[in-house]
Amino acid sequence: MKIGVIVYSQTGNSWEVAQNLQEKLLEQGHEVEVEKVEIAGEAAPRAKDVTFTNIPDSSAYDALVFGAPVHAFSLAAPMKLYLEQIDSLQDKKVALFATKGLKFNWTGGNQAVGKMKKICQAKGGTVVGTEIVVWNKARNKKIDELTRKFSVLF
Ligand SMILES: Cc1cc2nc3c(=O)[nH]c(=O)nc-3n(C[C@H](O)[C@H](O)[C@H](O)COP(=O)(O)O)c2cc1C
Repeated sequence: MKIGVIVYSQTGNSWEVAQNLQEKLLEQGHEVEVEKVEIAGEAAPRAKDVTFTNIPDSSAYDALVFGAPVHAFSLAAPMKLYLEQIDSLQDKKVALFATKGLKFNWTGGNQAVGKMKKICQAKGGTVVGTEIVVWNKARNKKIDELTRKFSVLF
């Protein structure tokens, strides 16, 4: 299966998760590309508009993983705005992850994943997995868990 792992990552954490996931999905025999949503400058947490400098083409993939950081207790605005403008996800499996700094999932993790889920489902996608990675000392264990779980979803 051709899987696109598409992330927005301001400081590299979500990108690191995406690269680990790519490795694991490749081991499972999938064709996997990791792509970055990029914007000019930095977006304010609740930005209503951004200037995209790279807009990955989600329609090129049979299945998708979207990942992004939590900003201000919710989904980073560039990922929200990116997802809102992608093509239909009809008949596609979708997995989602958020990375965050604060310990508890209610400090933005649940909101970020929930927002991605809502947009993807509205576009016809079937959300088959979600994970939240807190960027603390235990993160490598959590990243391993995420890659293991996501590697059997597709
Ligand atoms: C502007 C800004 C706002 C943030 N707000 C939150 C927050 O509300 N809750 C949280 O847990 N982490 C928050 N963080 C931490 C990031 O979510 C965390 O460092 C994340 O892993 C960064 O991912 P990235 O390197 O892919 O950009 C915030 C970081 C930034 C820069």
